[in-house]
Amino acid sequence: MTRRRKIYEGKAKILYEGPEPGTIVQHFKDDATAFNNKKHDLIEGKGVLNNRISEFIFTRLNEIGVPTHFIKRINMREQLVKEVEIIPVEVMVRNVAAGSLSKRLGIEEGTPLPRSIIEFAYKSDELDDPMVTEEHITAFAWATPQEIDDMMALSLRINDFLSGLFLGIGIRLVDFKIEFGRLYEGDMMRVVLADEISPDSCRLWDTATNEKLDKDRFRRDMGGLMDAYQEVARRLGILMEND
Ligand code: C5P
Repeated sequence: MTRRRKIYEGKAKILYEGPEPGTIVQHFKDDATAFNNKKHDLIEGKGVLNNRISEFIFTRLNEIGVPTHFIKRINMREQLVKEVEIIPVEVMVRNVAAGSLSKRLGIEEGTPLPRSIIEFAYKSDELDDPMVTEEHITAFAWATPQEIDDMMALSLRINDFLSGLFLGIGIRLVDFKIEFGRLYEGDMMRVVLADEISPDSCRLWDTATNEKLDKDRFRRDMGGLMDAYQEVARRLGILMEND
């Protein structure tokens, strides 16, 4: 086996140089972290589930014409993706009050929002991903106004599609975080969805019981994280026997 060049190691993923120029191998680790790494644990099998769930979601998004970095899943823990230049801005989309929005604005968790709300955070571990506005993003040239427009339009489309997808399997998409990258193709550049979408980066509540099927189980020491992620995979129709 040849050793691959590691490009980047994050809290839950490792990026390796891909087999072809312009490709990257995205490896899902079992590490669970919260509060910017202040809480850390290893949850055996989490990476495998997130790889499969994110594969499923990115495949559906590719099918409906949302541009993404995803090419294909390679094995239990890895997927082949297109190399992009990550825009250093996290996009949060919220449908129901929860988490930091509830805390910040004093709105009880579970309160439906009058309309979907998009928030931005500057990607910086040292600064704990502070919330920023479009003013900061353009002033510091993290993204252009056109790129912000593209990210917002894609985020709302992704939200509409995923809200329906999850509702169909008895899950409310409360909120989620996504990241975008610049994909260079010849002399063209376009903004595409990158990173992952999984129960690590979404809040997913059972519509009948309000049971949490996401990483809040870890953040709030509720236990049962793997059972919850497995339930999401099962309802999405993802069969794990194939591996
Ligand atoms: O913590 P907060 O309420 O702002 O999180 C909003 C959504 O973004 C949640 O679904 C959470 O899982 C996700 N998130 C994330 N990574 C971060 C911050 C938030 O995936 N660094």
